[in-house]
Amino acid sequence: MNDSLAVAGAPAPAVWDLLPAEQQPRWSAHPDLPGVRRALQDAPALTTAADVRTLRRQLAEVALGRARLLQSGDCAEDIRERGPAHTAAKAELLAGLADRMALRTGRPVVRVGRMGGQFAKPRSSPTETHDGVDLPVFRGHLVNSPEPHPAARRHDPNRMLQAYEASAAVLRALDDRRTDAYGPWASHEALVMDYESPQVRRDPETGAPYLASTHFPWIGERTRQLGLAHVEFLASLANPVACKIGPSASAEQVVRLCRVLDPDRLPGRLTLILRTGVRTPASAVTPVVEAVQRAGHPVVWLSDPLHGNTVQTSTGLKTRRLADAVGEAVAFRRVLEQQGLHPGGLHLETAAADVTECLGGPVADEHALSGRYESLCDPRLNPAQARELIDAVFS
Ligand code: PEP
Ligand code: CO
Repeated sequence: MNDSLAVAGAPAPAVWDLLPAEQQPRWSAHPDLPGVRRALQDAPALTTAADVRTLRRQLAEVALGRARLLQSGDCAEDIRERGPAHTAAKAELLAGLADRMALRTGRPVVRVGRMGGQFAKPRSSPTETHDGVDLPVFRGHLVNSPEPHPAARRHDPNRMLQAYEASAAVLRALDDRRTDAYGPWASHEALVMDYESPQVRRDPETGAPYLASTHFPWIGERTRQLGLAHVEFLASLANPVACKIGPSASAEQVVRLCRVLDPDRLPGRLTLILRTGVRTPASAVTPVVEAVQRAGHPVVWLSDPLHGNTVQTSTGLKTRRLADAVGEAVAFRRVLEQQGLHPGGLHLETAAADVTECLGGPVADEHALSGRYESLCDPRLNPAQARELIDAVFS
């Protein structure tokens, strides 16, 4: 049955397909694109509408302060890590960290992985220089390949089908592990419109459109412009949705985003993920929180204490300091509590292996970063660092 919405052949394209979108692959003239979109439209839904509704109810519990949320996983998933052992290791780390948060907060913790679809990356610059050669940047396995060669960096829409298959394998493994109500659920950044748009399906019970590529899509700091495709796309979905909020967002802009993404002011519908950086003072974050509260949006407030704190080492490696992450997350908690609100939880980039990508805890100094630096994109906390962060924030 073909029950999707915005597709070639449908009576009218959906509004988001007609709007400009930031951060898109350059493959619009590729001869395989229409066929890939059709295949995604006809492919089985990766998530069920019933599961999406269940997660939304759980996020409502978080919004009301009766539960907490941990959203965590790779910056960019590796398409080769689709096997059950990889998914098990990532899900076990997520569960272990969530149990730790539950113990410390006295609340159940909803577990959401950056998993089963986190294959596309927004980038600050379209090109990078490698050995004196200008190359398109790596944009995630859904778009191109990380090896520093022109052929590897070409944008290929056929990769969307590989990403779909890998997502299907990971999501099946997550489904098998979902023994209790609190997850694990899947989330990723809804970035590539050619991948997400054909995967909108109808909830057979309510008739509402939902995004079947994941349970919980978010949009990032680079694609949250009002009136452009990504915001309108998320606004049209029945899924719970999230939006990153960086230091340049004004209180007024955030309230306008809330009006579009949570017009009915429903707990669990919208999660705002603050990633302002440790050097943004609380006096700049508080007005945003106050304005959303005053406008009556019962959002889930999350802290992503990593994306605003990325620095470069003297040798040009991207890293983050655990102390900065702790500083931002503790300040976040204070701001929320001073407003009489609940700090909903954390959004983290973590690796299940003992990687050496961030500084702090077992990674003593910059020299130690060379030991096991494996990230495809941003530096991730290793398990010991993630535990230390949770202990420091919820002490
Ligand atoms: C990310 O979550 O990997 C990311 C790119 O985040 P942001 O949009 O907050 O920069
Ligand atoms: Co990242």
